[in-house]
Amino acid sequence: MLNQKYYADSIFKIRRKKWVDEPGEAAWAWEKDMLEHDKTLRVYACNPFAGVFRFRENLYGLYCENADGLGNVWMFLIEGPKRGLLIDTGYGVGDTKALVDELLGGKPCIVANTHCGIDHTLGNCRFDEVHCFPGEAAKLRTHNEHIWDYLFDEDGEAIWMDITREDLPRWKPYRIVECEDGHVFDLGEGYEVEMLWVPGHAEGHANFLDRQNRILFTGDNITSNYGANGMVDRPNPKPVYGGKHCNYKSYREGLAKIMERYDKFDRIFPQHHQVDFDKSILKGCVKAVDEILENPENYDGEYSFINKENHLESYKLKNIEGFIGKYAYNI
Ligand SMILES: [Fe+2]
Repeated sequence: MLNQKYYADSIFKIRRKKWVDEPGEAAWAWEKDMLEHDKTLRVYACNPFAGVFRFRENLYGLYCENADGLGNVWMFLIEGPKRGLLIDTGYGVGDTKALVDELLGGKPCIVANTHCGIDHTLGNCRFDEVHCFPGEAAKLRTHNEHIWDYLFDEDGEAIWMDITREDLPRWKPYRIVECEDGHVFDLGEGYEVEMLWVPGHAEGHANFLDRQNRILFTGDNITSNYGANGMVDRPNPKPVYGGKHCNYKSYREGLAKIMERYDKFDRIFPQHHQVDFDKSILKGCVKAVDEILENPENYDGEYSFINKENHLESYKLKNIEGFIGKYAYNI
């Protein structure tokens, strides 16, 4: 039995010490059930920090504890006939590269990021090359050997998760490949994954369309907790999750691009919390975003928490018809 959103009894080596902001009960209930009962869950000796779920014959979800007190995060690994595609790299806790190599049986692996959020990219340096959209590349280039320092207090103790510096990568520079909207990754023998620019949560936020598995990976734009996609219709001033297109107006244009491909996929996999939703949830997403743009003052609730910089973060919330998650925004 898992212990109240802490995983002290779980079979893999994750030891959360405290939360900055706990996920909602509904989002957590699904994660708890998966961790306790999913028969595909495996832990590999080369990286005991990741819980490996097998969602399809050739699709692995690598479930990782969030190292700085927020929601746990997925990396997704698609095994194509000739090569793999790893979507996001987590915090880099544990040897992600060795795990990917073992799962792919030594096939080469392309690495790509949904966006530059630290929970999605600090493991990049375990690889030689990473793909992203231009809006994220400059932010990735600011990473250096100190990117994990904030996880530890002045006595060298990890603050949110029971890890040591040895569990983290030794930072090294890696090649950042800036992709164009619609870039196609060729995994061999006609297996293609399309990378789509869907800004909002971040300036260069990417979605990935696995045409063979008919799955759309939606990153952090949509989650079963809160999808936070910035301001309503103006640039977001935040340093990492900010930029000209970090708003619901730009996100709506990204959603339109996704809806043009509606007959190309069946299921939705977000990068946090519950996965494998029916694509019909997108109809509620479009409706909710249109309502936010039309009348942002007509929100369904408000939400705030003290962030890790000790500042109060506050959002308006919009319900999404037919879906468990909500949209969070600032006016
Ligand atoms: Fe995230």
